[in-house]
Amino acid sequence: MNHRDAAKRRKLPLLSDHIGGRSQLTCLYRCGDACSHPVPNTSDNPYMGDLIAGVVSRRSLFKTGAMVTAGAGVAGALGGSAVFASEASEEGSAFWGSVPRGLRFDAVEPNKEDAVTIPDGYEQQVVIRWGDPILDDVNEFDPEAQTPEDAAGQFGYNCDFLALMDLPGERRRKVLVANHEYTSEEMMHYGYDSAAPTREQVEIGWASHGLSVVVLKEDKDNGDLTPVVGHELNRRITATSEFVLSGPAAGSDLLKTTADAEGALALGTLNNCAGGVTPWGTILSGEENFNQYFANAGQVTDATAKARLARYGLSGNASERKWEQYDPRFDVLQEPNEPNRFGWIVELDPYDPDWTPRKRTALGRFKHEGAGPRVDRQGRVVVYMGDDERFDYMYKFVSKHKMKSGSSRSAREHNRKLLDEGTLYVAKFTGDSPGEIDGTGALPDDAAFDGSGEWIKLASGDESFVDGMTAEEVYVFTRLAGDKVGATKMDRPEDVEVNPKSGKVYAALTNNSQRGTSGKAPADEANPRNSNKHGHVLELTEKNNDVAALTFGWSLLLVCGDPEDPSTYFSGYPKDKVSPISCPDNVAFDPQGNLWISTDGNALGMNDGLFGVSLSGSTRGLTKQFLTVPLGAETCGPVVQDRHILVAVQHPGEIDGASAEVPLSQWPDGPEGALPRPSVVNVVKERFGSIGC
Ligand code: FEO
Ligand code: CA
Ligand code: CA
Repeated sequence: MNHRDAAKRRKLPLLSDHIGGRSQLTCLYRCGDACSHPVPNTSDNPYMGDLIAGVVSRRSLFKTGAMVTAGAGVAGALGGSAVFASEASEEGSAFWGSVPRGLRFDAVEPNKEDAVTIPDGYEQQVVIRWGDPILDDVNEFDPEAQTPEDAAGQFGYNCDFLALMDLPGERRRKVLVANHEYTSEEMMHYGYDSAAPTREQVEIGWASHGLSVVVLKEDKDNGDLTPVVGHELNRRITATSEFVLSGPAAGSDLLKTTADAEGALALGTLNNCAGGVTPWGTILSGEENFNQYFANAGQVTDATAKARLARYGLSGNASERKWEQYDPRFDVLQEPNEPNRFGWIVELDPYDPDWTPRKRTALGRFKHEGAGPRVDRQGRVVVYMGDDERFDYMYKFVSKHKMKSGSSRSAREHNRKLLDEGTLYVAKFTGDSPGEIDGTGALPDDAAFDGSGEWIKLASGDESFVDGMTAEEVYVFTRLAGDKVGATKMDRPEDVEVNPKSGKVYAALTNNSQRGTSGKAPADEANPRNSNKHGHVLELTEKNNDVAALTFGWSLLLVCGDPEDPSTYFSGYPKDKVSPISCPDNVAFDPQGNLWISTDGNALGMNDGLFGVSLSGSTRGLTKQFLTVPLGAETCGPVVQDRHILVAVQHPGEIDGASAEVPLSQWPDGPEGALPRPSVVNVVKERFGSIGC
């Protein structure tokens, strides 16, 4: 067919509640329009923020947030970055004396370019695009002749989490692992009819979800990374690949289906968002907005089942992608337990293609954004996790057994079971400035949004610590367990990762337009702004830096937005010297221990980007934009190493009105008319030097 013919188009719903820069298309396909649906957490789990008074104010700094705008002469929404960049250029290396190593680059300007923009002195290269073959005997990408078989051997759609790992024994080679969070059918298929997708289109969708493992060859001179097609480790995991259900809920009646009477083997992984690399060399990946793939939850009549489905955002009749037309497991009326087999952390061993990946039930079931592991000196393992939904919770899992060091077969076998036994906790945050949080973002008298917190035990092995719930129910309906124990309702907890230099934990809280609105939880010290459009970043310090601690301290590192906005906070760093940042999503760390943040849905009207942030000393809070991504795209999966920065450019051109027939981005292929393709970009310093140094 002529793909320029007008395709059958159906109107997208008019949505009033979408956040900032996110298009309706992205909301529809990525999250199942979560923002336009009621918040799933309707529990009366109380607002805990300021209930405990009497904590001594620890600081006597001035009120940075309230004072800076008047005094600092910020030029405008984009002024901070402009001032910063020009100062750096004019003053050269003398200027860098005040900037930590790792962050010594000229900040890029916020922009609306249909390009990846990077600092002067850096180079970029597209490593791999949606549709590039990674397995042998797979056809080159042809959007007018795609087949499910080809798609299952090509790099999938909408890359998100990235890991770039060493490949021992092979010189100049590395292993890239990428999540493929979701498909946007209208952007992928010419002539797509959302009311009646073909079987082939649906099966291409299945094959384009999941994960990719791809070996890359590194050019020693310029740092280019090139896929080694057909390498024995290359692998696709899709929506139909086998996963072992493991851990304490495996075999539960809640996980049994017609196809799997044992509740032991699930097919596929869906909506894999962020993730983490374990100290034993496996990949953790979060199954996030899985609810959107299931049909007919709105027709369920059993009250308990209906409430459980609703708490996970399952509602309505037909699903957006209509997969239920081709596989009844996506119809909850036919397979009521199939949704229970999604929403887990999955573990994949990229070095062992024969090891069936696991769904780790001990880590609970929710809309997992990602998983941030850490091992302490004693070998105990902790995994920090966020549930990316407005007013949902933060969690950690602590292993029962200790990690064995080394790469022997027995160590590997042992370590690949660590996440099956342990204790699952949910977080409760208490502010130390009770009564002073008014929802405007004004700092309290102690000049910090900070306080203490506790990890509330939910379940350990077969033992439940939640009244009225069995351990199996706690694992499968973890959100309901969090409701019962009074966990703190957060502003969309996304990536939660551990700084390997310090052991401190950093959580991106993306935004929450409904904070403080009628009938919803008001601002508290850990979520201090009502109608929070731009999000914030929280730093958590375990008591005695102990991974198994039951209490912690916390403070907000950043309250994001236009630095000229008095509600923003950059840890007291001068606001005329920071880049504007909005909607933090994924976090990572460079070798110097600086924090790096990628954004999703920049509500300041500019393209999303990647930012480096200083965490210590007099520059704590210094925030510098390193790159921006093309029109309609989100910045994902940052990998920040000594000489490589990798980002996943997710959903380029996903702008309202776009389709395969009407591409609204030409990135990365151009010329006009080519489909935009989600891709991985590698940024290196000229002459392949150390980044930011
Ligand atoms: Fe898939 Fe929470 O972003
Ligand atoms: Ca405080
Ligand atoms: Ca994300």
